[in-house]
Amino acid sequence: MHLKEKLEKRQARIGVIGLGYVGLPLAVEFARAGFDVTGFDVDEWKVSHINAGRSYILDVKAEDVENCVTAGTLRATTDMSKLGEMDAVDICVPTPLRKTKDPDMSYVVSAAEQIAKYLHPGMLIVLESTTYPGTTAEVLQPMFEARGLKVGEDFCLAFSPERVDPANEKFNTRNTPKVVGGTTPACSEAAAALYSAAVDTVVPVSSTQVAEMVKLLENTFRAVNIGLVNEIALMSHRMNIDVWEVIDAAKTKPFGFMPFYPGPGLGGHCIPIDPFYLSWKAKQSGFECRFIELAGHINGSMPEYVVERIGEALNTKKKAFNGARIHLFGIAYKKDVSDMRESPALDILQLLHRRGAELSYTDPHVPSLQEGPLCLRSVAEDAVDGIDCAVIATDHKTFNYAAMPGRFPLIVDTRNALKGNPAKNIFRL
Ligand SMILES: NC(=O)c1ccc[n+]([C@@H]2O[C@H](COP(=O)([O-])OP(=O)(O)OC[C@H]3O[C@@H](n4cnc5c(N)ncnc54)[C@H](O)[C@@H]3O)[C@@H](O)[C@H]2O)c1
Repeated sequence: MHLKEKLEKRQARIGVIGLGYVGLPLAVEFARAGFDVTGFDVDEWKVSHINAGRSYILDVKAEDVENCVTAGTLRATTDMSKLGEMDAVDICVPTPLRKTKDPDMSYVVSAAEQIAKYLHPGMLIVLESTTYPGTTAEVLQPMFEARGLKVGEDFCLAFSPERVDPANEKFNTRNTPKVVGGTTPACSEAAAALYSAAVDTVVPVSSTQVAEMVKLLENTFRAVNIGLVNEIALMSHRMNIDVWEVIDAAKTKPFGFMPFYPGPGLGGHCIPIDPFYLSWKAKQSGFECRFIELAGHINGSMPEYVVERIGEALNTKKKAFNGARIHLFGIAYKKDVSDMRESPALDILQLLHRRGAELSYTDPHVPSLQEGPLCLRSVAEDAVDGIDCAVIATDHKTFNYAAMPGRFPLIVDTRNALKGNPAKNIFRL
């Protein structure tokens, strides 16, 4: 049976490589759409959790995993030879940066090597990991064609950027439009048929390069606008203007303005990283991405600025950093998630540690952390006592904000979580 027909009849077997924040929700959505899904991961802990019907991603309901596993439509494995049984495979592995801010393609290459070993006629492969424009055509296609099969004729290859927004209660994998670009028109058609079965809206584009660039435009747009609003926050502080009030008023304009908010810096596996994939690639064409570099510079300096504000707060009580007991509320990179990759709260902790502060934290989603020399366990919110300064680094909705100004002598609020509270011991960005 032809792949398109198998997809339409939900008889295609789907593989998802990398069962993290992106891969697990996608695998569950395919299974819920009626496909037979196998998740592949190198992490045995994740594989055993899924096979036991458990979820380890906050946005994926345990009952959804359990229902799919019990129904026999979802399973996970570390055995890559099972890739040979798949009709379509989605690659959702990490794409981090090296210390030099160059793309680290090792995970994508390793996943592609496994697929290449088991590539067979009629197979569809879609890369979902965020990457620089040209990856699908320049890295994956040659690896697969080296097996003697021709793209668009013997197998299909496409890129479809993942847009998952962890903890977003309105938009999920199913109702977020999916951009799809194939290597050839036949590849686009096959990939569109795959996603149409599991997501509400598919947006076809003309090539894999366009699809890759779409994702980088989206994330660069966020990084640059956050950089801009962070700079506005820094200048507003100097000019004694409340930046939060300015943004609230500006966003009443019903057209031509979109609010972005200042904060302690960028976090997560996307916004701090993806724009540098683009600037790295553009450099190869002799193009310097000035906006990206500048936004990276401003956003990267925000943890230092937060520490400066903590210093100003301590100063009002004639206290030094050295020996001050400073407690962070929220370690995850954004509210209501457990992901602490690239979280600016970790940078703030390091900077405070170097200044001799005594540190503790509360984060209901991050029970413990090991960051350089720091090894800390989350303290229950009610048990936080005897501190000199509380820092709201992430505004989880579970925190009791109303009680904070009365409980703690000083509060540095990097997220405007105490909006409208007139207490004099609150220091905002
Ligand atoms: N997290 C997000 O919000 C988000 C949003 C949109 C796009 N993305 C992009 O999606 C991709 C995946 O991100 P993520 O957050 O899901 O990462 P993740 O770290 O949560 O998950 C990746 C998974 O891949 C597994 N893995 C690594 N190498 C493997 C290999 N060779 N074979 C099989 N499994 C392997 C890891 O064990 C891990 O479970 C990245 O390119 C990221 O930029 C992430």
